Amino acid sequence: MLSRVTHCLVVLATGPMTVLSAQATENDIAPSNANALYQKHCAKCHGKDLTGGNAQSMVDAAWQFGRTDGDLFRNIKFGISAVGMPDYQSALTDTQIRELVDFIKDAQDQLGVERPPIPDELQTRHYDVAVDKWITEGLEVPWSLVFLDDRTALITERPGRLRVVIDGQLHPEAIRDTPQVLADGQCGLLDVAVDPSYADNGWIYLSYGHAIDDEQDRDARVMLRVVRGRVRDHAWVDQQTVFEAPAKSYTNTRIHLGSRMAFDHEGRLLFTIGDRGAMDEAQDPHKPNGKTHRVWPDGTIPDDNPFADGEHGMPSVFTYGNRNSQGLAVHPTTGVIWATEHGPMGGDEVNILRSGKNYGWPLASYGIDYNGTIITENLQLDGTEQPVLYWVPSIAVCGTRFYTGDEFPRWEHNLLVGGLGHEELRRLVVADDRVIHQELMLKNAGRVRDVQCDPSGAVYVVLNKPDVVLKLTNAGQTLRQ
Ligand code: HEC
Repeated sequence: MLSRVTHCLVVLATGPMTVLSAQATENDIAPSNANALYQKHCAKCHGKDLTGGNAQSMVDAAWQFGRTDGDLFRNIKFGISAVGMPDYQSALTDTQIRELVDFIKDAQDQLGVERPPIPDELQTRHYDVAVDKWITEGLEVPWSLVFLDDRTALITERPGRLRVVIDGQLHPEAIRDTPQVLADGQCGLLDVAVDPSYADNGWIYLSYGHAIDDEQDRDARVMLRVVRGRVRDHAWVDQQTVFEAPAKSYTNTRIHLGSRMAFDHEGRLLFTIGDRGAMDEAQDPHKPNGKTHRVWPDGTIPDDNPFADGEHGMPSVFTYGNRNSQGLAVHPTTGVIWATEHGPMGGDEVNILRSGKNYGWPLASYGIDYNGTIITENLQLDGTEQPVLYWVPSIAVCGTRFYTGDEFPRWEHNLLVGGLGHEELRRLVVADDRVIHQELMLKNAGRVRDVQCDPSGAVYVVLNKPDVVLKLTNAGQTLRQ
């Protein structure tokens, strides 16, 4: 039942019945076939002039369930049952739904609606939080951020660059000689992680889309690869391969590559690989996709890996049945491994990863396919693990991190999670192996790709669209109900 907490959105969303604004007239919006459809099917809830009524405005640029045309299309076609948005898959054709999406977007344009600015301050339950626009220019699809020390951070950009930030200043040049990546779709330079003994050994780990054909070839086959290296004189040096998948697992799809990396308390490196769109392969421990892997930092296999002998699975596999995990965090005191996983339409998950366990994809899921087909009737299945928490609809859960530091003491060891599609930063309160509360802290500022802390505990939120990094600091303690 914990997952139902997300449904507090209903309270935020469905305000009291409002009388339609008298000033607004239908003439504000050019008549069209789509307008007729809108008036017939939508106006009674979203208002004749689109400015809201029983349900929210369509023209304030604030979207709760995703702002892309694809999000709007799916929300209209399949509805959002949790909040009372009906589905129109039998009442309207796909073409009509597309016309409605265009109609809504055109109405926004005509009214000159801009998305709300990123706030300067957030009011959360325990703190007033100052929001500093830490890096606003010079980044392209920033994917991952990590601190080397209290002054220096590294940021990956998906197109294939590794950047350095010193004292809040983005170095204008990318680090030279980082690996050649295939940057297309969801592939590119993805995660960056720092060795737990970095101060002694200088190792930095990168995960990326590696091609075995010419990267320029549109059909180049690609797969996740993990390397480590050092940064010296602004160049990537000493590179070693930590993980490379067998050549036969490389495919020309550009989706579901994962990937996040994290070190467990024994110093082993965990990393995720998405199912690469081949969902059934997530159940095959011999295939690298749809898995979490666990290796020693030099790539060798820990003896106690569940398939260490290679007989019943790949030696590096740690868990299987994972669709596409893009968040991985190790609890600072318990060492328990938490992962966030993109579900299909509905069914984003938070999982606790345990050696050799099957997380069920695609045999059990709380979601359905993006085209509306049922992937499985099973919400639960014997022999597969249940998520600790799931979101229906999906927030497009991405980077995650346990809060540590002194800036926000009341958030100690809370799990911060980002959502791409729903543009959210959430704080999950974790007790033992459960999530007992969640707070929506930031909404509609951009797609939240990653969340990190610096050594002092300031929180960094890596956004895409806009490609901005926010820094959150304590502007005063409070207690709100
Ligand atoms: C019975 C009332 C009702 C009708 C009719 C209805 N909606 Fe909705 N719709 C809702 C509610 C409730 C929500 C959830 C947000 C909210 O609380 O306002 C919603 C949400 C949405 C969203 C997602 C908004 C977001 O913030 O992400 C879209 C898009 C949408 N509706 C479009 C439409 C369109 C287009 C039609 C007509 C084809 C339509 N709706 C008809 C009640 C309705």
